[in-house]
Amino acid sequence: MDNEHGSELGTQEYWESSYNREIRNYKSHGDVGEIWFDEDSQQRVIDWLLKQEEICKQTTVLDVGCGNGMFLVGLANEGFSQLTGVDYSPKAVELAQNIAQDNNLSITYKVADLTQLQNELGTFDVVHDKGTFDAISLCPDNPKEKRALYLTTVEKLLRTADSLFIITSCNWTEEELATNFGEKFVRHHTIPTPTFKFGGKVGNVVTSVVFKKL
Ligand SMILES: C[S@@+](CC[C@H](N)C(=O)[O-])C[C@H]1O[C@@H](n2cnc3c(N)ncnc32)[C@H](O)[C@@H]1O
Repeated sequence: MDNEHGSELGTQEYWESSYNREIRNYKSHGDVGEIWFDEDSQQRVIDWLLKQEEICKQTTVLDVGCGNGMFLVGLANEGFSQLTGVDYSPKAVELAQNIAQDNNLSITYKVADLTQLQNELGTFDVVHDKGTFDAISLCPDNPKEKRALYLTTVEKLLRTADSLFIITSCNWTEEELATNFGEKFVRHHTIPTPTFKFGGKVGNVVTSVVFKKL
């Protein structure tokens, strides 16, 4: 993803038609669809959470822009019990609900647009984003305003000053995320991700950073 230009990946129509296709695939041959940035990046976050003393199986987790919900399925398989996923695509929510139900997992899913205030969702100990801020950044109209609205929503969704906002991005570097979020969040930890070397510089394909409220 590229953060300078709008793209169809920043529109609700794109995601709705994409999950419409994925739900048909799931129903016909059980394929859960795309796991963004591969399963390793999801597992790295889950492994990190499992190692934190303050995190327990009753910790409340909200996955924002949950898509097919596979991150929450991963946490549910580890015994987490207070799991919620939201997405602005009703078809994504339908797909995620089907997958959870078929695996006998109790996960709450709701349709919600994160660029609008979400007073009814409540607050959470952990808010997780994988690829959603990236998608919002690609919105063809007013991406800067949409990013700001998203960050206001996330801040309100965090329960306390110690609650965690974990984000995995492929189109923002760690420094860019810290700068973007600087008015509301402070960097707490960086979850190591694989690096590559190009032209003498070392970079990351994906970045996973944990923030806390300022
Ligand atoms: C790149 S996909 C990532 C899906 C999932 N997090 C994963 O890792 O597989 C981006 C997701 O964000 C959702 N999304 C984009 N903008 C959103 C918004 N404003 N509110 C809620 N969900 C949004 C899309 O519908 C899509 O499911």
